[in-house]
Amino acid sequence: MRLGFLGSGNMASALARGIGEPALCFDPVGDRASALATELGGEAVADAAALAERADAVVLGHKPGQLLDAARDASGARAVVSILGGVPIADLRAAYPDRPVVRLMPNTPAGVGKGVVAVAIEAREPGVAAPAGEDELRAELLGLLARCATVVELPESQMAAATAAFGVLPAYVSLFAEATVDAAIRHGMTPDAAGRMVAAGIEGSAALLRAQDHDTLAVRRGVTSPGGSTARGLRALDRGGLREAVQDAFDAAVAVS
Ligand SMILES: NC(=O)c1ccc[n+]([C@@H]2O[C@H](COP(=O)([O-])OP(=O)(O)OC[C@H]3O[C@@H](n4cnc5c(N)ncnc54)[C@H](OP(=O)(O)O)[C@@H]3O)[C@@H](O)[C@H]2O)c1
Repeated sequence: MRLGFLGSGNMASALARGIGEPALCFDPVGDRASALATELGGEAVADAAALAERADAVVLGHKPGQLLDAARDASGARAVVSILGGVPIADLRAAYPDRPVVRLMPNTPAGVGKGVVAVAIEAREPGVAAPAGEDELRAELLGLLARCATVVELPESQMAAATAAFGVLPAYVSLFAEATVDAAIRHGMTPDAAGRMVAAGIEGSAALLRAQDHDTLAVRRGVTSPGGSTARGLRALDRGGLREAVQDAFDAAVAVS
């Protein structure tokens, strides 16, 4: 299946890189499309209409608010894959009538083969069938996504929560890492040494969580000796309102999505 990326920005590029197939690319900004096409071994095309005509499926990589304008330009799309945050399948079907449509929520670590992608399951009225070719598109896409991500199929009603849980997570983890590096620098460490240690520490902690069946309490207990430094640090984070802040951030992201 030849994918055509309509918009070659941050998320579309990460996904294209993770899937690792030559693809068609279009973007109105500078040399974004040609840079991505060169990296993928694909081809940058002159406009959205040409992309739609030549791709087996068009991946919507523009901003959510650009859906209707983009759909007018790419009206010849044979099939549509959306990564648009907060745009329901019903809106995608209205913009691209009678075409197979799949709605995804990816995150940027897909670009380094460590992504998460939620694939929406539409709530359909009984007896209402999907457009011809949609099941095949979905099946082929699931195979491509598995190359670079943990793929989870979710009811569409949970896509906003998925966005808040992992779509935005690279930014939150980076903020936590940055704060830790800054603290380490205040204690005399070099930015380079602190940065490498913190990134490796985050990677290892995530691997440990997976190995222990995502049991966060077990991982915490494993490093928290009574009266020790971790116990004092965790208390300081609680006093600082970390849990409340995380809940507020989650709620804010859900509200937008
Ligand atoms: N970034 C993430 O972590 C993430 C995660 C999950 C989902 N998403 C979704 O991914 C989409 C893109 O986000 P992003 O962060 O990658 O944004 P981005 O880096 O700004 O990329 C979007 C690109 O699409 C271009 N574009 C605008 N209108 C277009 C059109 N009609 N046809 C083709 N390209 C067009 C934009 O150009 P202009 O700048 O000129 O508008 C821009 O270069 C959004 O819908 C977002 O909800 C992002």
